[in-house]
Amino acid sequence: MNTPNEPTVRDRIKDLENQILGLTGELYRLKKDNEPPFTPGKTTVPYAGRVYDENEVKAAVKSSLDFWLTLGPEGIRMESELKKFLGAHAAILVNSGSSANLVAFQALTSSKLERPFKPGDEMITVAAAFPTTVNPCLQAGGIPVFVDMDLKTINIDVSRLEDALSEKTRVVMIAHTLGNPFDLGAVTEFCKRHDLWLIEDNCDALGSRYNGQLTGTFGHMGTSSFYPPHHITMGEGGAVYIGQTEHAEVLETIANSLRDWGRDCWCASGRDNTCGKRFAWEWEKLPYGYDHKYVYSHIGYNLKPIDIQAAIGREQLKKLPSFVEARKRNWQRLRDLLADLENEWHFVEATPNSEPAWFGFFMVMRTPDHDKLTMLCRALDTRKIGNRRLFAGNLLWQPAYKDMKHRVVGSLPVTEMITRGGIFLGVYPGLTGAMIESMASAVIDEWKTILD
Ligand SMILES: Cc1ncc(COP(=O)(O)O)c(C=O)c1O
Repeated sequence: MNTPNEPTVRDRIKDLENQILGLTGELYRLKKDNEPPFTPGKTTVPYAGRVYDENEVKAAVKSSLDFWLTLGPEGIRMESELKKFLGAHAAILVNSGSSANLVAFQALTSSKLERPFKPGDEMITVAAAFPTTVNPCLQAGGIPVFVDMDLKTINIDVSRLEDALSEKTRVVMIAHTLGNPFDLGAVTEFCKRHDLWLIEDNCDALGSRYNGQLTGTFGHMGTSSFYPPHHITMGEGGAVYIGQTEHAEVLETIANSLRDWGRDCWCASGRDNTCGKRFAWEWEKLPYGYDHKYVYSHIGYNLKPIDIQAAIGREQLKKLPSFVEARKRNWQRLRDLLADLENEWHFVEATPNSEPAWFGFFMVMRTPDHDKLTMLCRALDTRKIGNRRLFAGNLLWQPAYKDMKHRVVGSLPVTEMITRGGIFLGVYPGLTGAMIESMASAVIDEWKTILD
C-alpha cells in the first residue's frame, strides 16, 4: 500500500514517460541545432523529403512505449481527424498510396455493389502517370483507356472524354498531376451523365482545392500517399477516403474488408463482438453461428499500417495547412526566378478555378529533345539539385506494360512530349529561400551551357 505522499505506480510510470519524452525533445533539438549550414553546390537540395519537428519524434516514441503496435487507438484518431479535415464520409488508413489505389479500385469489383466492375470492363485514365494509378485496373482484368493530356495543366484533356467512352466504360480514375487538380467540373459532370465511378488519386494533391473544395472529395473515393515526399508523411502509409455519395456506406464497408484480409467482421484491432452477435450470424453454407471474426466476404489483403505510423501522421496533419502554404510560396518563387526560360520551356499552369497544393514545379521543353533533357538532369545531379521525371512518363513505352490490353483515344502527342521533354523540381516545405535561389540559378546556368 502507498502512504498518502508516496507516488503510486501510475505516477511513477507517468514520470518516467515524461522524462523519456523530455530527453527525446532534447536529443532532437541538439541534432537539429547542429546540422551543417546550407552551402550551395555542396549541400544536396532534394526535390522532396520529410519535414518534422520534435513533436513527430515524441509521438513515435510515446506510441512505441505504449507498444500497441498494430493499428489501434492512434489509427482510429487519425482516421477521424483526416475524415474531418477532408469533410469525407470516412477515411481508412492503409500502408501506402499504392495500397489505397488498390483498395479503392478493388472495391468496385465487390459483389456487394449492384453492377460490379468485371474483367474486360474499361477505366478511363491518362498514360503519363504513376504506375499504381493504373495497375489496380489491370490487376482486376480491366482495360485502361488512355486519353491525352492538356499541355497547359498536364492533366487529362477533357475535350476527349466523350471519345473515350464505350459501352464497357465503368470507371474514371486519374491523379491530380503534381498537385494540380484536373478539371473536376468537366470530369464529375461526365461521370454523372454516364453513371460512372470516379476515383481521384489524390496522392500528390492533399490540400489542393477546386472551386474551394478539397480535391479527393469530389469522387466516390479518393486516395492519399503518406510516403515522405508527399504532403504529409507516416514513413510508409496512405489512406482511402470515401466521398459523401449515396454509395458511401457500402464502399466504406467494402474498403475496410479488403484492407483487413477480406473479413466480414468490422471489430477494431483488439476488440471482439462489436456486432453483438459474433456467434449468431447465418451464412449460406457455413454452420450457423460460425465465428464472425473468421467469416470472409471478400478476397482481401492485409494492408494496414501500424499505430506508430498513425501517431506520426497525426502530428503531420496538424502541420498540413502550413505545408500547403509553403508549397504554394515555393512554387511561385521558382516560377518568378525561371521566367527568363519561358521562350524555350513551358511552365505548368494552375487549372482554372483551382488552388494547387503543388507537389512539384513541372517544366517541359517547347521543342522536346531528350538528349538535352538528360544533359540537364545529369548537370543538376552533379550540382546536387534534385530533379524528377513525371514518374513513368508514357506508360505504353514502359517495359512492364508492353503486352497490356488497352485502348488509346486517338494519339498521345502531349503525353509523348512530356515524356521526352519534361522534368520537375522540388517545392516541398523543407526548402529555404537560399535553396530555391540556388536551384533556379543552377537550372538557368546549366541550360545556357547546354545551348552554347
Ligand atoms: C500519383 C501517385 N499515385 C500513387 C502513388 C503511390 O504511393 P506510394 O508510394 O505511397 O505507394 C504515388 C507515389 O508517389 C503517386 O505519385
